[in-house]
Amino acid sequence: MTPYCWFDYKTVIVSGASSGIGKGLVTKLIGEHCCTVIGIGRSEAKMQKLVAELGDNARRFSYYLFDVSVKENWVQFEADLRNAGIRPDLLINNAGILPKFDKFTNYTLEDINHAMQVNFYSSVYSMNALMPLIMESQTPGIVNIASSAALCSLAGTSIYSASKAALKSLTESIREECRGQCYIGLVCPGFTKTDIFANQNTGNESDLSERALQMVSTSCARMVNDIIKGIWKRRSNMVFGIDARLMNNTGKVFGVLIPWASSKVIKMAHLAMFSDVFDEEDEGDPTSAVVREKFKQHIPGRHRMG
Ligand SMILES: NC(=O)c1ccc[n+]([C@@H]2O[C@H](COP(=O)([O-])OP(=O)(O)OC[C@H]3O[C@@H](n4cnc5c(N)ncnc54)[C@H](OP(=O)(O)O)[C@@H]3O)[C@@H](O)[C@H]2O)c1
Repeated sequence: MTPYCWFDYKTVIVSGASSGIGKGLVTKLIGEHCCTVIGIGRSEAKMQKLVAELGDNARRFSYYLFDVSVKENWVQFEADLRNAGIRPDLLINNAGILPKFDKFTNYTLEDINHAMQVNFYSSVYSMNALMPLIMESQTPGIVNIASSAALCSLAGTSIYSASKAALKSLTESIREECRGQCYIGLVCPGFTKTDIFANQNTGNESDLSERALQMVSTSCARMVNDIIKGIWKRRSNMVFGIDARLMNNTGKVFGVLIPWASSKVIKMAHLAMFSDVFDEEDEGDPTSAVVREKFKQHIPGRHRMG
């Protein structure tokens, strides 16, 4: 058992508990902080695997299977908790998806809506449904897992970055509204080794994308450790991972130059993961001859609406 911590023996809800960062948080909260954890996810098989891995500690774990992007599921979940007399102390909104890296124009409105629902509205619904219950705790807390993409957007990540930036803004505003009443934390992890990249074209292990990803990524165990320590210290905004800190610090100083320079590097390296993002040579690059020529042709005739 680690030295006393404010969430020892508390009841914690973790969404996206069945894999990656969420699964790591569940294991640590139960194993090292004697918490009672209620996990949320969709895959029963993955939850059962977690239960088996928890061994004796599984008695402190229960799970609900539902889609976090559906408002009614959270309303029902809250009613179930109330009926069972369960008063959660801490809510960790961690469930999320990473849409395949692509150009904005290649995403359908359904893709966009889905990413916003899972990455942003799920937290809106969960906080809307659960905040009154959590506020009944002596030590109420809510932690939202955003991303370094909320701090600096790269080409090919428009929808993901937007969904996480929305979550960041929402969290920071709620924090001020709840100051002195409820701890509100925001986590912006950088690349972390989890299954979230399963949809990306990372190629095989010898592929440059895969190697680049491995190089800048933080291990899941390290990320989980940092998140737990941050919550323990009741930190407000937490930026974890070398890549995330770099993007955050250089982004503040150099502004739009960072996404621009990142695009240059990604293009030069021909990363498989971004193969759908920069498919048309020169198009979209403001320094290219093609774009300069188009721009020149466009200037003479101004178009007025109405
Ligand atoms: N890994 C990274 O590099 C990274 C970087 C920055 C931020 N993050 C953020 O960290 C969080 C955790 O990501 P991870 O890397 O641990 O991903 P992961 O290994 O893919 O796990 C995602 C979790 O979210 C759950 N989930 C996804 N969609 C859901 C839905 N509609 N309803 C209910 N549960 C859903 C999954 O459960 P089921 O499969 O059971 O549905 C799974 O437990 C995400 O919010 C992600 O955006 C990750």
